[in-house]
Parts: sequence; C-alpha cells; structure tokens
Amino acid sequence: MSKFNLSVLPKLSESSTASHLVFFADKQGNILGNAADALANTAHLERAQSLIKAANFKGDTNEVISDYALNSDNPAISVIGVGDTKNLVNNIKKLATTAYKTIKNSESAAIIWGDVICHKHFTWFSLALLNASYRFENHKSKKSDADTISTIAFINNKESENDYQDALTQVQATFVGQSLARDVANEAPNVLSPSALANEAQKLAQDYSDKVRVTVLGEEQMKELGMGCFLAVSQGSDEEGKLVVIEYFGKTAKSDSATLDNPIALVGKGITFDTGGISLKPAAGMEDMKYDMGGAAAMLGTTKAACEANLPLDMVTVLACAENMPSGHASRPGDIVTAMNGTTVEILNTDAEGRLVLCDALCYTQENYKPQVIIDSATLTGACVIALGSIRSAVYTNDEDTLFALESASDFTDDLVWQMPLDSAYDDQLKSTFADVQNIGGREAGSVTAACFLQRFIKDGQAWAHLDIAGTAWQSDIKGASGRPVPLLMQYLKAQSGK
Ligand code: BES
Ligand code: MN
Ligand code: ZN
Repeated sequence: MSKFNLSVLPKLSESSTASHLVFFADKQGNILGNAADALANTAHLERAQSLIKAANFKGDTNEVISDYALNSDNPAISVIGVGDTKNLVNNIKKLATTAYKTIKNSESAAIIWGDVICHKHFTWFSLALLNASYRFENHKSKKSDADTISTIAFINNKESENDYQDALTQVQATFVGQSLARDVANEAPNVLSPSALANEAQKLAQDYSDKVRVTVLGEEQMKELGMGCFLAVSQGSDEEGKLVVIEYFGKTAKSDSATLDNPIALVGKGITFDTGGISLKPAAGMEDMKYDMGGAAAMLGTTKAACEANLPLDMVTVLACAENMPSGHASRPGDIVTAMNGTTVEILNTDAEGRLVLCDALCYTQENYKPQVIIDSATLTGACVIALGSIRSAVYTNDEDTLFALESASDFTDDLVWQMPLDSAYDDQLKSTFADVQNIGGREAGSVTAACFLQRFIKDGQAWAHLDIAGTAWQSDIKGASGRPVPLLMQYLKAQSGK
C-alpha cells in the first residue's frame, strides 16, 4: 500500500488543501493542459506563469523550478519542463519520477495534467510516480528519512475520459503487487530461502482469507509425486525445496471443499540463489543470482495485486522454489532423472536448472487443475538478456489468443514483450543420446531452446505462454528488482476478468 492517499479529480477546488501544486510546461514556457480549466483559483496559475518568466525557464525535460512562498493561502508551486511535446509520452515515466522527487517532502500535492494525458498514459504516469516512492532498506542500520507527502491529487479532465478513477484503482493494486515482487527479489539470498518465499505466499492466505488458499509441498511430497527434475536441482542445497500453490477464488466461492473452475494458471521460477551447481558460474556478478526467483516473485506479486483489485476470476499460482548449490549431494552433468510426467531428462549442465524445476511445476499444474491457460515467467536464460536486453521480455506461446492478449497488455502498460519462435527445428537441438531429452541445446538460440524444453511438458491442446524475464526483472542502473512483469500480467488478468 502506498503510504499516501491518492485521488483523481477533474478540477482543483478553491478550498483545496494541496500545499504544493505541480504544473508542466513546454519549451515555449506554455503550461500544458488548459490549466485554467483545471483550477478554481487562477491566481495559482498566474504565479506559475510569473515563475516561468522570472526563473529563465528553458522547458527542458525534467527541468524543475519552484516557488516556496508558503503560507495558508499560497501553496508552493513547481513547474516541470517536458521538453519537446512530441516526445511527451516517451518521457512520461521520467517526468513522474521528477514529480515525485519534487513533492516528496511537501505535506500534500496536486499534479495538474488537465486535458493532456489520456487514461493509458495516466496509468504509466501514476504507476511510475508510486514506484518512485519505493525503497528497499531492510538491511540498512540507518534508514533514510521518511518522505512527508501524505496526499496526492491528480488533476485530469481530458474530454470523454471519465475512467481515471478506474485507472487509479488498478494502478494502486498493481503497485502493491509490484512492490511485493521487488521486496522479495531484492532480499538477500541467505534470508530469502525457498521456505521464506513460501512463508511470503502464506501471508496472502492470512491477508485475503476469504479468497485465498495456500498449500506448500516439501521435498518428501514431491518425491512421492515423482518430481525427479525439481529434486535434482534442490538436492544440492541444505535448504529444502518448496512447491507453493496459491489458489485464488475470485469467481467460485471459496469453501473447504471448493475447487477452482478452469483457472488461469501462473507458474514462476523461484531459484532463490543460482550458483550454477556443479556447472559453477564465474564469481563476478554472481550476487545478482539472488533475483533468479524473479519469475516466482512476479507471479506472487501479481496474485497479490489480483487480491487487492478483487478481480472476478479463478486463478492458481504455482511457485517452484529451490536453491541451486554445488555440494556432495548435488546433481552431476550426465545424471539422468525422470520428470513427473515420465519424461527422462539428461542433465548436461546443472546451470540450466530453471527449466528443470519448471517442467515438474508445469506437470503438477496440468495434473491437478484444468487451466484455461498457463503462463509461466522465469529468469531463464542469459541468452534472452543478449537478445532483448532489459527493455522487452521474451514471450513464447502456442496460442494466438494469449499472444494477442499479452501484446495488448504490453501496449497498454508499457511493460513490453516481444514474441519469439518455437519452431520444431529448434527443439531438435534438445535430442539426447541417452534419455528422452537433454536439458541444454547448445550455444545457439539459448532462450528459444529453453522455451522448447518447457513446451515438451505442455500437453496437446493446453494453451500456454512462457515469459523469459532474465533481462527485465532486474534494473541494472539502480541495481534492484524491477517488479516486472507484474504490470503486464495484472493488466492481462484484468482484461481476462472482463472487469
Ligand atoms: N538464471 C540463469 C539465467 C540468467 C542469466 C538470469 C543472467 C538472469 C541473468 C539460468 O539458470 C542459467 O544459468 N542459464 C544458463 C543456461 C545455459 C547453461 C544453457 C545460461 O543462460 O547461461
Ligand atoms: Mn542457472
Ligand atoms: Zn537460474
């Protein structure tokens, strides 16, 4: 939950309590958005215009000028430059960060876009503004001072756009889920073990007890189920692997005996630390492999966002949580293990562990539910980082409707995806000499062959999409978890729920 109250209004009233007003202006020094219509008190607008003249304002992107002549009648005024208005949309998330920095130590603020931004761009702006308030300071002895801002009003009044409130509600739920995803992915790997991640999921069952049921399977139960691929990864670690199952009853009423009705299934890779195992990774940068549970983090966060927004749909979320360590118990290159569906897998590289935990999680999901669609997300391959960087997540799917729905959600949220291929010619790279399949396909097309491996565990006719988020789950610039693709998936779910 954001620490401040948010509202969206068509007009800032005369008696508004906002102690800080934020305007946006272009390179000509014109305030955007027909601000006269957005304010009951035009004296504020005149002050902003005088400020622009007095401060030699250039209107460059993210330039900020402020006038803090503060008394009960005179709120502080800031004007933020938007640069070339043709690029306004491209800059909107940066402008949100600038706006947040400008107001964070005021009491209350009104952000005046007036009639400039539509519903969609308002969601980008407001979510980016909320994300600008995010901090992860669990392990700092001295925390930075808390921001003082307690209420923010967005003044938006574009004609024929009456659904800003709906947008804001969705954004707030998304922010709650995205923050959880960031928190768990940022957490240190000695703290966030598979059990600790399972405990985070258990909290949903407490906080949303009328809608959520959580079941956690340990290694003994997974052995009984024949999940040999999952266990081959987990066995090298002293931390017990966990398969976390979160059932969300948003359509079917929850009761002790209730079962989900053709749920949407979300499956996440939850490797709480990936050393590579016996196929050990190089030391440099290995600390980043604490976010190798970013797929599970995003699915957990999306589930929490759906709870917050009360989405009217049935959903099951399955998190495959394990630690990939080298030890005397660890799997060797050459080991052959059997997945829950009977497929034998030759492990040629123990660092290709994500697909091993996921294949059993995918089998489990299909065995126990009749999902209308399965979406998995995983920090699966370094090759995906090379292909798409941190801009777009790779999407692989066997289903056109799901592709269209994900691409629509990608456009709407700017949490972008790009379709990648699943031709059987790529799958040929996975042929094993000694077993049904091998767990690596060689250097070429590494993200594609990883997806082909997963597809082998999808039953005929089962709609499925795989998101490789190795590049997008982490923000290298701020050295922190991005919480992607929670915005994408939350928008997807909202569209599916028809809400
Ligand atoms: N977790 C890694 C993938 C990864 C790399 C995620 C960089 C985020 C940033 C995954 O388990 C892995 O090690 N994949 C190997 C597969 C290879 C052995 C076929 C890789 O990409 O090198
Ligand atoms: Mn690995
Ligand atoms: Zn990994």
